Amino acid sequence: MSSATFAEAVLAWYDQHGRKDLPWQQNMSPYRVWVSEIMLQQTQVATVIPYYQRFMTTLPDVHALAAADPDEVLHLWTGLGYYSRARNLHKTAQIVVNQHAGVFPASVEGLEALPGIGRSTAGAIASLSMGLRAAILDGNVKRVLARYHAVEGWPGEKAVHDRLWKIAESYTPAQRFDHYTQAMMDLGATLCTRSKPSCLVCPVQAGCAARMLGTPAAYPHSKPRKALPVRQCVMPLLVNPEGDVWLQRRPDSGLWGGLWCPPQLDDHAALEPLLDQLGWQHEATERLEPLRHTFSHFHLDIQPLLVQVRTTPGVAEAGQVWYNLRQPSRLGLAAPVSKLLKRVKQLLDPVA
Ligand code: ADE
Repeated sequence: MSSATFAEAVLAWYDQHGRKDLPWQQNMSPYRVWVSEIMLQQTQVATVIPYYQRFMTTLPDVHALAAADPDEVLHLWTGLGYYSRARNLHKTAQIVVNQHAGVFPASVEGLEALPGIGRSTAGAIASLSMGLRAAILDGNVKRVLARYHAVEGWPGEKAVHDRLWKIAESYTPAQRFDHYTQAMMDLGATLCTRSKPSCLVCPVQAGCAARMLGTPAAYPHSKPRKALPVRQCVMPLLVNPEGDVWLQRRPDSGLWGGLWCPPQLDDHAALEPLLDQLGWQHEATERLEPLRHTFSHFHLDIQPLLVQVRTTPGVAEAGQVWYNLRQPSRLGLAAPVSKLLKRVKQLLDPVA
């Protein structure tokens, strides 16, 4: 889909489904759009509407706001949160009145220079209320575009952010950019939602890369987690002459609670004391390929050991089992243990 087709599809959808009756869409002016955009930065439309109406009734233009008592401005903001937005709003009104003769600068750069107005808010004010072609990239639009292009990486990274801005710029049409801006916000807020997007009714579904991949909700990628700490352990797979592997049931609470595992040792030196305690002699010990298992809060690097022990099978005690690899009992096994047991089976019985 070319950028012209993308914009056309978005605009056709807007004509049918876009929001046209929001209070800041009536009697549109830079002042009215600016106040709404600041209120909407961290707050949902439904919450904003009554605050917006009260604000406009009390402070209908930039002169009224500039002259208002700071307490009055904060009072009108009470309940919206993020009060630095209200303080910046007041400051910006005074700058517009005192330095720009009460007229908002008519460029994205000029708007961006004012307190509390970032590039996307500047783009929204310019395109919605000033007849200037300007792109926006708020949270909603970021989501739509990151999905449409299956943009890899976290948008907090400069390279990813720059790429999304390039896409946003290239898709903004030369005509009807005001409707396009509103449409992109609406699309993100109503269809292309964070979870369970409504792709079937989306006007640009045919060209959406994330939809083609089948994982729209995976975009945009979230902030990468901090590197997890690594813990080490040694896991001896004690094998008796029958080829069975000794497992213990883990306590119900804690990692792998209630699952069956080989013993888990801090290091290789703990093996001899364990075998002494069990009263078993051992033959060859073989290091198997290490294995990493990742829990939510750490990596566990497992060094498996294949240890042939001389013991008569007998009856295992409660909470212990000689696990028959050929006829496995139905026990709960942690994922890496299950993997290791498969490896042991392969080593002992390569043709099976
Ligand atoms: N969020 C930010 N700006 C908006 C607007 N103009 N309409 C609806 N939601 C928005």
